[in-house]
Amino acid sequence: MRSTIFVPVLATLAAAQSQYTTRSPDFHLVVFSTTNETINNTALVACHEGAAIEGFCRGPKLPDTSGYGTNFYFNTSSENTVPGAANIPGILSYDLVIADNQTVPSSMNVASTLVSNVAVPVIYPGTSSAYEVYFDEADELYVLSWRDDTVDPAVGKEERLKQWYICTTYYSYTYVTLAWVIGKGVNPQNPTCQKVTVKRVWV
Ligand SMILES: *[C@@H]1O[C@H](CO)[C@@H](O)[C@H](O)[C@H]1NC(C)=O
Ligand SMILES: *[C@@H]1O[C@H](CO)[C@@H](O)[C@H](O)[C@H]1NC(C)=O
Ligand SMILES: *[C@@H]1O[C@H](CO)[C@@H](O)[C@H](O)[C@H]1NC(C)=O
Ligand SMILES: *[C@@H]1O[C@H](CO)[C@@H](O)[C@H](O)[C@H]1NC(C)=O
Repeated sequence: MRSTIFVPVLATLAAAQSQYTTRSPDFHLVVFSTTNETINNTALVACHEGAAIEGFCRGPKLPDTSGYGTNFYFNTSSENTVPGAANIPGILSYDLVIADNQTVPSSMNVASTLVSNVAVPVIYPGTSSAYEVYFDEADELYVLSWRDDTVDPAVGKEERLKQWYICTTYYSYTYVTLAWVIGKGVNPQNPTCQKVTVKRVWV
C-alpha cells in the first residue's frame, strides 16, 4: 500500500507516551476560509484512506452535516478535568465504527514525506503515533512550537501555529482534505492548497 512510503512527522513531539483518557463532548471540525465561499463554514468528514485509516475530507456546509463521520472528540490527560477548556494539550480522537457496530477509538497523526511540504493529517486506530494539538480561546485548532530555529542561535519561544490548508492530497486516494504545511512562514508547494482555519463547533 502506498501509505507505507510515509514517515511519521516530528516523531519526537508525538504524543505516544502519554495517556489521553479524559474525553471532551463531541464536536464538528469546521473549516473557515476568508476567500472561498464554497469551502467556508464546511465540516470535515472522516473518509476512507485504507484499512481502518481515515483522512479529514472536505464535507458539507453546516448545519447540513449529520452525525457519524463528522463527530470528533478531544482527549486530554486525566489532570485536565475540563477537556473542553482552551489551551490544554490533547489528541483529536474519533470513534471508527466497524462491523457489528464495534467501536475502534482512533486518533489523528500527521503523515509526511521528504518530497513535499504538504503533510496530511490522518486518523489511525489507537494513540501510538497521535500528534498533540490544542484549541485556543476561539476554539481554533493549533500546534504549539517551543523553539524558533529560524534564527541563529535558535531561541526558546512559544508560538501557536495554524498552518492548516484544504488541498487535493494523495495519501492513499486523491481527495480534497485537510492538510498542514511544514515550516514556519512558507507557502505550500501544492498549488491546490487554500488557507483555512479549523474550529471546533460543539454538537
Ligand atoms: C478517549 O477517551 C475515551 C474516554 O476515556 C476512551 O474511551 C477512548 O478510547 C479515548 N480515545 C483514544 C483514541 O484513546
Ligand atoms: C473554492 O474551493 C473549491 C473546493 O476546493 C474549488 O473547487 C474552487 O476552485 C475554489 N474557488 C476559488 C475561487 O478558489
Ligand atoms: C465565512 O463564514 C462565516 C460564518 O458563517 C461568515 O461570517 C463569513 O462572512 C464567511 N466568509 C466568506 C468569505 O464567505
Ligand atoms: C448497529 O447500530 C444501528 C443503530 O443503533 C442499528 O440500527 C443496527 O441494527 C446495528 N447493527 C448491528 C449489526 O448490530
